[in-house]
Amino acid sequence: MGNSEKVVGVELLKQNGLDVDELIKQLVINSSVEFTAYYYFTLLRANCTGMDGEGVKGIIEDARMEDLSHFESCIERIYQLGGSLPKDPIDYIKMSGCEFLQLPDNPTDLKAILEKCLKAEQGATINWDKVCKMTHGKDPITYDIAKDILAEEVEHESWFLELLYGRPSGHMRRKHPGERPHTRKHSRALDMN
Ligand SMILES: [Fe+2]
Ligand SMILES: [Fe+2]
Repeated sequence: MGNSEKVVGVELLKQNGLDVDELIKQLVINSSVEFTAYYYFTLLRANCTGMDGEGVKGIIEDARMEDLSHFESCIERIYQLGGSLPKDPIDYIKMSGCEFLQLPDNPTDLKAILEKCLKAEQGATINWDKVCKMTHGKDPITYDIAKDILAEEVEHESWFLELLYGRPSGHMRRKHPGERPHTRKHSRALDMN
């Protein structure tokens, strides 16, 4: 890399003791999980049928639209850090390890659908906590994104825990799907105006 390509914004992170390559790797994996979960949640939501399914549909939709926001929220940062997304979308989807989110044997089994949603949210919570730990005190920009995504993942987890086990989440429904109270500033591409 010539002097003209010296990226001060990345050099500083290295001076702060951050393993930038490791961070890029983790961000690309996390973004693939969000992208793939968005797809699978689309299928899961579509299979919430009947009177019970009708209520669950709205919660899955809120979580689904926020996963799209989480995908959008990491892209710019990956490129700023010098990373990129895989050329082949199939490689990208495989990287997520989200096969467990495929429809259950009985596709409209509501409890099985909710269990899958919960597992996805718990996995995402661990993924973003990892990025928070990697960047805390070293990379305030990525940390800000990761902690905002983490806040939404923790909310999503609590919604599915409540639906499955009656553990109160204390949440009010989003005002509209895609409200994304914590990550909105990171995913402005999704704003309609
Ligand atoms: Fe997410
Ligand atoms: Fe989520």
